[in-house]
Amino acid sequence: MSETYADVESLLRRTNPQQPVYCIYADTYQDSTREFVDGFPGRVLYAVKANNHPQVLQEIYTAGIRHFDCASLAEIELVSEHCPGSTAYFMNPVRQKGHARRAQQEYGVRHFVIDHYSGLTPLLSEIDVTQSVLFARMAVSHASAQADLSKKFGARPEDVPALLQAINEAGTEPALAFNVGTGVEDPAAYSYAMGIAGEVLSGLSFRIRLLDIGGGFPKSYPGLTVPPLDEYFGHAQDALQDLPLSENGELLSEPGRALSAPGLSAVTQVLLRKSDRVYLNDGMYGAFWELRFKAHLQYPCRVFRKAESLRGTTKAFRVFGPTCDSTDELPARVELPADIDVGDHIEFGSIGAYSLSGRTNFNGFYSDHVVRITGQDSHPPELAAR
Ligand SMILES: Cc1ncc(COP(=O)(O)O)c(C=O)c1O
Repeated sequence: MSETYADVESLLRRTNPQQPVYCIYADTYQDSTREFVDGFPGRVLYAVKANNHPQVLQEIYTAGIRHFDCASLAEIELVSEHCPGSTAYFMNPVRQKGHARRAQQEYGVRHFVIDHYSGLTPLLSEIDVTQSVLFARMAVSHASAQADLSKKFGARPEDVPALLQAINEAGTEPALAFNVGTGVEDPAAYSYAMGIAGEVLSGLSFRIRLLDIGGGFPKSYPGLTVPPLDEYFGHAQDALQDLPLSENGELLSEPGRALSAPGLSAVTQVLLRKSDRVYLNDGMYGAFWELRFKAHLQYPCRVFRKAESLRGTTKAFRVFGPTCDSTDELPARVELPADIDVGDHIEFGSIGAYSLSGRTNFNGFYSDHVVRITGQDSHPPELAAR
C-alpha cells in the first residue's frame, strides 16, 4: 500500500473522501507494539483476528512481532504472505478437516490447540507428532473481563491433567493455554489464572515448557481508563516464579486489542443531519460493529470542515450509520460541534481492534480505503478530545 499522507488534514485536502478512509498511524503502531514486546516477560503472539488487514500486519511485523496467533488456515496464509520468516500458531480448537495438515505441510506450523479428547485423534492423524506442540486449552474466567471466553472453549481445570497426559502419551509436546477473557480490567486476573495453571501443572508426572496466557490485555477508551500494561506484565512475571515449568520454560501471550487498537482511525463523512441526529457513511455494519457487543465503548473523535479542524460549542448527537436498518446507530451519544453539517468529516480514533476484520457490505456500504499517516507530529484523535 503506497497511499501515504503526512497528516489527516492533507488526506482531507487532497481527496475530500466520500467513502470511509481508515488511517494507519505508523508511529502509533510502532509504539503500541514495542511497549508490549519490550515489557512482556515472554513470547508475544499477535492475535490476527483483532485486525487482519495486510498493512496492519506489516506495521506490527516491522515493529518486531515474529509470532502470530491464527484462528484459521486463511489467517496463516495471510501471515505467511505478509510477514516473511515469522511463525504462525494454529490456536483454534475448531478447524476444518485437513487444514492442520495443510498448515503444517505448506506453512510449517507446529503449534496447535485442543480443549477436549474428541479433538485429539483427528488432529494427530493430520500432523507429525514429533514436530508438533499441542496446547490443552483450560477454561478460566475472571470477573473483571468484559467478555467471558470460557463459555465456548476450554476444558475444566480438573480435566486438564488427563488431557495433557494423553497428549504426552501420543508422543507430541504437551503445553497449556488459557484465555481469561477480553478487555480484562484487573491485572490480577492473570496471576489468578496462572495460579490455577500452577495447581494443574503441579499434579503432573512431567513438566511442560510452554504456558500461553492468551489475550485480553485492555486499552483505555473515553470514559474507560484501565491500568497500564506494566501492571499486567508485573502480575505475569510474579506468577511465573511459582510455576512448575521445565527449566527452559517460557510464557506466551496472544494480545490483539493492545497492539491493534491505538494506531487506526476511521475518517467518516456526514451524509445527512436532522436536528440532533447525524448520519455517517460508516456505522454498525462497518467499522463500528464491535459496539454491538461492547455498548460501553466509545472512540475519541475530532471534526473537520474543508480539511480544517471544526471547533466551537458542542452538543450530544445521536449518530447513525448509512444502512436502512434502524439498529444501525452508535450506542452512545457523541459530543460534536453544534453546527456540524453534511460534508463535514469526523475522524474516530482508537478503532483498530475488531473493526476492519469484521465489517460487512450490508446494503452495499463498504470501504477498503486504507492509507498510512507518517508525519512525525501527527497523532490519532486523543482520548481526551471527547
Ligand atoms: C484465543 C484468543 N486469543 C487471543 C485473543 C485476543 O484477545 P484481545 O484482543 O482481547 O487481546 C482472543 C480474542 O477473542 C482469543 O479468543
